[in-house]
Amino acid sequence: MMCFQRAKIFCQCAFLLVSLALTPEHSLAEFNPQLAVMNCKTCHRVENINISMTHHTQLYKTLLAFKYDQRPALLMNRISKGFSDEELKQIALTFTLRDAQ
Ligand code: HEC
Repeated sequence: MMCFQRAKIFCQCAFLLVSLALTPEHSLAEFNPQLAVMNCKTCHRVENINISMTHHTQLYKTLLAFKYDQRPALLMNRISKGFSDEELKQIALTFTLRDAQ
């Protein structure tokens, strides 16, 4: 019983964290590009898909193209719509800086 309650609380916390990460515009927390990038990495291993594009402006443009449906996608169009343009810019910057190190 105790264990079940703990699991329930854990699930609720996990859900809250994921919601905060996915809907930054509606959350009270400040947007944290580091967290958003961790989210990207659950699907992207840098070796598999070339998201560490040479320049952050190139990555930013690609994310905008997904967001405004100028580039066909199954998932990225939805994911990018969860962020403001400014947030996508910060994600692109964080991504390329981290991977350049
Ligand atoms: C749920 C899994 C998932 C997550 C999370 C995810 N992506 Fe993607 N990404 C994909 C898939 C699948 C594609 C291929 C296009 C499509 O069908 O959406 C893709 C394609 C891309 C591309 C184009 C790559 C290329 O070489 O053409 C970029 C750039 C990209 N993602 C960046 C990101 C960034 C930045 C994030 C974090 C904000 C992110 N992705 C989060 C699944 C994901």
